[in-house]
Amino acid sequence: MGLFQNRPTVQGKKVVPVWFMRQAGRYHSHYQNIKKDSNFMQMCKDPNLACEITMGPIMDFDFDAAILFSDLLFPLERLGMGLSYESGPPTLEHHLHGPDDLKKLHTQKNFTYDFQGEATKNIRKALPPSKDLLGFTGAPFTLYAYACEGAHSGGLIHAKQGLYSGLYERFLELIEAEIIEQLSIQAAAGADALCLFDTAAGELTLDDYQRFSIPSIRRVAQALKKKFPSTRIIYYSKQTHLNYLQLIESKDIDVLGIDWRVNLRDALSLLGKDYYIQGNLDPAYLFLPWPILQQKLEGIFKLAIESKCGADKWIMGLGHGVMQKTPESNVKNAVKYIHENFLYR
Ligand code: CP3
Repeated sequence: MGLFQNRPTVQGKKVVPVWFMRQAGRYHSHYQNIKKDSNFMQMCKDPNLACEITMGPIMDFDFDAAILFSDLLFPLERLGMGLSYESGPPTLEHHLHGPDDLKKLHTQKNFTYDFQGEATKNIRKALPPSKDLLGFTGAPFTLYAYACEGAHSGGLIHAKQGLYSGLYERFLELIEAEIIEQLSIQAAAGADALCLFDTAAGELTLDDYQRFSIPSIRRVAQALKKKFPSTRIIYYSKQTHLNYLQLIESKDIDVLGIDWRVNLRDALSLLGKDYYIQGNLDPAYLFLPWPILQQKLEGIFKLAIESKCGADKWIMGLGHGVMQKTPESNVKNAVKYIHENFLYR
């Protein structure tokens, strides 16, 4: 099913498409079976494994889009920051605390993003043509937060100091080029849309978000649109309220992914004329008993229908990623329910 135009119809009505961030992950037995014999880094870097993992939730749950199985921190590895997943969550060998630390960064010429390009090509071959393929990486500020702190939340003291010491500005020169190169490889290999995940965005004040983050997002989106005019750009941000989202004003961004704190009806009414809106079921709702989860799904559909532009500019999704230990049956039932009941016009 197309996420954008050409949405299929059931009984003469259009169907709202759906995909979830982290739809291929630890909650899924398919993923766990592959993980038994490989570690996370291998799973990302072996294009055959990455393809197999990406296809798991398409085969088992029938999502309308596949998202490349990978991670968003590889640009930091390419800059020589020593990325590892050995102890579980991602770790970096060193962090940036001031402008002098930038001297430690060097683009590793022997590190390319080709493993993502190869995986994308494999997925494109395996995926039914009616389903969209999404590539992704981190948005500039989120990668910066990781480079400074090794995390995307918390006090972010070093990261916030660096906004005013010249560190951020100079880091952007390096990271924007990496993001553009990485996403270009994914687009050239067949990605229909490219996601920029900005999980750290909402840690910024509105003023700092406007001054430091938005210009960089706009530059990256513009550069990608110039190279790949028909590739859609999806920008997800967490803990950004409507007043943040309103300031983005980028004609190069096609979709805004929103988190569960935003009212979907308001987001669609206010921003639906300029963007598709994706979201925004609370991922914790996927742990509820099915009858309650079903009510939550009914509720979110109602919000979209009640909005000024209806469901035509809506892509169903979560307000963040699928969590570990989410019951698989709820994911399966939710996608089925959406396909059978999120019908409009
Ligand atoms: O959506 C998909 O199915 C594609 C895969 C995907 C992963 N990470 C796989 C993954 C995507 C889109 C991401 C995005 C990502 N990665 C983000 C942005 C979204 C978000 O969650 O905020 C961020 C910040 C990261 C960085 C990262 N990678 C973290 C914080 C972790 C630890 C996560 C945790 O829950 O412990 C990872 C590891 C990671 N990335 C896993 C997966 C499936 C778990 C690895 C494992 O232990 O098997």
